[in-house]
Amino acid sequence: MNHKIDEVVTIPPAWTEASAPPLEVDFGCHRGAFFIGMAAMNPGTNFLGLEKQADRVNKCLRKIGRLGLANAFAVQGLGAEPLQKLLPSASVTTFHLYFPDPWPKRRHAGRRVFQVSFLEEIRRVLRPNGTLRLMTDCESYFCEMRDLTRVGWNELPWEDGRETVETAFEKTFRAMGMKPHQVCLKPIAIEALVAT
Ligand SMILES: C[S@@+](CC[C@H](N)C(=O)[O-])C[C@H]1O[C@@H](n2cnc3c(N)ncnc32)[C@H](O)[C@@H]1O
Repeated sequence: MNHKIDEVVTIPPAWTEASAPPLEVDFGCHRGAFFIGMAAMNPGTNFLGLEKQADRVNKCLRKIGRLGLANAFAVQGLGAEPLQKLLPSASVTTFHLYFPDPWPKRRHAGRRVFQVSFLEEIRRVLRPNGTLRLMTDCESYFCEMRDLTRVGWNELPWEDGRETVETAFEKTFRAMGMKPHQVCLKPIAIEALVAT
């Protein structure tokens, strides 16, 4: 079964109600190693995987079904579109963007998903105390992401006291002895920005 955003008008409605449990988004979730593993370890939190490739979404959904997880779901979508269509404002507690496609050639840099408009969409969907967690092996992309978050975002410690699961790409890079760049960010409220 393949959930395309045009076919699935919404994610489970209870996931985005005001009193909903925490909701975490794994953008570019690949085959779900991270968010499905986290969902299995954190039954009180809902995990939504977003991924552009339908075959990977199908793999995620089959795995979720096999494990019988009611707190994990995956949807196919490209870029900011699934955020706009599926996620109300202030609905997400943690937005994970791990190893986004780096497009390392300068002439392809415009294809990187992390652009100003995408970042503003993340800001919109985050709950007031929500966080954005970024991880990549690509230094130039990491610098670009940090430049775009220099104003309007505060850095928090990466460790949040939770046991975590490696993403597929993280596992590969760490096995090669490489340490990825990581940062955890919290949006500064617009009112506080205007007052400064
Ligand atoms: C390099 S992989 C990283 C996968 C995973 N996050 C990890 O850390 O192992 C990037 C993933 O993002 C997906 N992707 C790339 N661009 C996307 C976009 N614009 N919208 C949604 N998914 C995207 C790719 O299909 C791929 O599965």
